Amino acid sequence: MNIDAHALVEKYGTPLYVYDFNYIENRYTTLKDAFAGKKSIINYAVKANSNLSVIAHLAKLGAGADCVSIGEVNRALTAGVDKYKIIFSGVGKRDDEIREALEKDILMLNLESEAEMKRVELVARELGKEARISIRVNPNIDPQTHPYISTGLHENKFGVEIDMAKRMYIYANKSEFLNPVGIHFHIGSQLTKLDPIRESAQIVADLVRSLKAIKIDIKFFDVGGGIGVVYDDEVTIKASEYTQVIFQATKGLDLTLLCEPGRYMVANAGAFFTKVLYEKNNDGKRFVIVDGGMNDLIRPSLYDAYHKIEAVNVEGESTPADVVGPVCESGDFFGKDVPLPPLEHNDLLVIHSAGAYGFTMASNYNTRAKPAEVAIENTKDRLIRARETYDDQVRLELEYLKQ
Ligand code: LLP
Repeated sequence: MNIDAHALVEKYGTPLYVYDFNYIENRYTTLKDAFAGKKSIINYAVKANSNLSVIAHLAKLGAGADCVSIGEVNRALTAGVDKYKIIFSGVGKRDDEIREALEKDILMLNLESEAEMKRVELVARELGKEARISIRVNPNIDPQTHPYISTGLHENKFGVEIDMAKRMYIYANKSEFLNPVGIHFHIGSQLTKLDPIRESAQIVADLVRSLKAIKIDIKFFDVGGGIGVVYDDEVTIKASEYTQVIFQATKGLDLTLLCEPGRYMVANAGAFFTKVLYEKNNDGKRFVIVDGGMNDLIRPSLYDAYHKIEAVNVEGESTPADVVGPVCESGDFFGKDVPLPPLEHNDLLVIHSAGAYGFTMASNYNTRAKPAEVAIENTKDRLIRARETYDDQVRLELEYLKQ
């Protein structure tokens, strides 16, 4: 990111999320180009970063959206995503969410259980509509990633096993109110190995073939998200290798290929800027206390995730320090034993790779206002979400306050 960080934080304050929109565009085109020659849709996983301007930026490039709540569906529509490129996934959908999704006529609802299929059929019947659906198959493959973001094993709550999926397709195909147009799998996030994707794609493509044999014609083959990114020194999956694996698995089938990348699109487009409040030394243990906290960026606390941290334009010999926030939890840290030069009040730190699952997982814990978000496009900066105020936070409570 080619920016003057000091000028940015002077203008917008800290803590601050900054996203490089040119990088996002580059990621989108790299992946889209890797699908060249095949029908494909890149359904950006909105949960990774659901800022309206981020979604709109991708929508303008032609991206669709993968959503896991009606809120996300509405964000995608508001941001200008074509309704026929929106998928509504997730293990649990309320009836009102199903109804709204059907009324809004999005591409399809992705189902994760037989019980859910019956609910969707019921709601579709009430509306007198046919629901386009896909079924999430759980291929029982170990994705070799962090257990919290692994989803493709039977021990995980996601999807249905092959035989159940087949029974569901047969049922849906007969139903007046269901139209099984798609098939889906997603085995986990931050995947750095291709083999689990290859195996899963083959298993699911074989199911498509066996459905075809009984005249159930699947049109959309959705391989989910999960392409890993570099936070530290990971060697991860290349777009072209990824698509080759999908092409091989689906050979001979006439399908539109879908994928749902979130992290791949935005993680390394984003940086989180936070200012040093002060340093402190507890019996030889060095702490750098900053103005951002776990409520702003929870990945290190929640998953022990690594994010590279650097001081911006500060000279001096580095020694290890824990970078911690002001939240009242020992888990409120961004990094442990991070090599940093001596720091003073108002020095600036940058926490890298913060574009995915950063702001979207932020909370108001400790009544801390959520940070502002800024986009950089062609070296120009613009605010894409204002810093929250105290008034924003108490708005839904104040009118009920009895004195
Ligand atoms: N599709 C489905 C059905 C998903 O469940 C997910 C992510 C994605 C696509 C996008 O996956 P991606 O391409 O971003 O890996 N909060 C965690 C990640 C949770 C991922 C949940 N599902 C983190 O910060 O690492």
